[in-house]
Amino acid sequence: MTTESAISIRGREEWLSPASYWMPTHFTITAWMEHAPFASWIVDALQPRSIVELGTHWGYSYFAFCEAVKRLGLDTRTYALDTWAGEEHAGVYGEEVFDYVSAVNRTEYADFSTLIRGYFDDSLDKIEDGSVDLLHIDGRHRLPDVTHDFESWVPKLSSRAVVLFHDIAEHQEDFGVWEFWEGVSQRYRSFAFEHNHGLGVLGVGADLPGAMERFFDAAESSPEAVRATYERLGGAVSELASVYSRPAELQHELNQLRAEIDREARVPGLDARIVDLQNQLDAVHSSTSWKVTQPIRTFVSRIRSGR
Ligand SMILES: C[S@@+](CC[C@H](N)C(=O)[O-])C[C@H]1O[C@@H](n2cnc3c(N)ncnc32)[C@H](O)[C@@H]1O
Repeated sequence: MTTESAISIRGREEWLSPASYWMPTHFTITAWMEHAPFASWIVDALQPRSIVELGTHWGYSYFAFCEAVKRLGLDTRTYALDTWAGEEHAGVYGEEVFDYVSAVNRTEYADFSTLIRGYFDDSLDKIEDGSVDLLHIDGRHRLPDVTHDFESWVPKLSSRAVVLFHDIAEHQEDFGVWEFWEGVSQRYRSFAFEHNHGLGVLGVGADLPGAMERFFDAAESSPEAVRATYERLGGAVSELASVYSRPAELQHELNQLRAEIDREARVPGLDARIVDLQNQLDAVHSSTSWKVTQPIRTFVSRIRSGR
């Protein structure tokens, strides 16, 4: 007797697809980390003709959208807008950020992706009115900033447009996206993810694609299931990211301790801590997960060094 069986994917959840399980290919330390599964899902569901991102920094969210476009073979144009200089919330940063984003963009997504450097307001005339199907707003997060970014980019939206807002669950001083979201989410179809500082999904277009209407219907009737699923999928992304960052953290601590020894600052227990750190680092490097992700790291380091 055979034990083989088949699973039908008919009748699957309207808010989940195989794309929801894709892992990002470009990792950076970012507060957006755990929204990558939803980024892939929405590109698959919306099949946008044009994606615009306001606020790209190291490109984590942007490259998550781009990677989904590439994997799905869509005919989408994507645009990343940023000064690539930073501000109070993201921190002011140097040219190495733009160099990295440009290198990844040139190597992997140049066929359909354009980086537009400058203030969002100064770049308005570079995007056609009524053309944007997916807009991601992730610039500076004060209430006047997000209000201005939304209002000034609304004329660019198409009749099928969805807008994503990051940080809708962030209440630290000076952040006002949550307050903007409280108002705007009453005026359109909307859904709020609460994990990883929150991601708001706003159906602004008057003629949303069926997949998005079905998403809002399903998310309205089972909000906790949708949130729990994407929180879990996002957690898996963080786990993979920690495989990359753990050795760097350990190496940093090791270097600091060695520098202390070089300065002859003998601290009780230091030698034992060094042996312990070296052991942890060796264990990470010989672990299976570290070995299987080696090709990705080699690729990323080649991009970073421009080879
Ligand atoms: C929170 S970061 C973006 C994070 C990114 N989406 C990610 O996945 O990690 C915000 C970025 O917006 C940019 N920015 C903020 N206000 C801007 C404006 N008015 N014009 C252009 N860039 C702006 C900053 O330079 C910064 O790089």
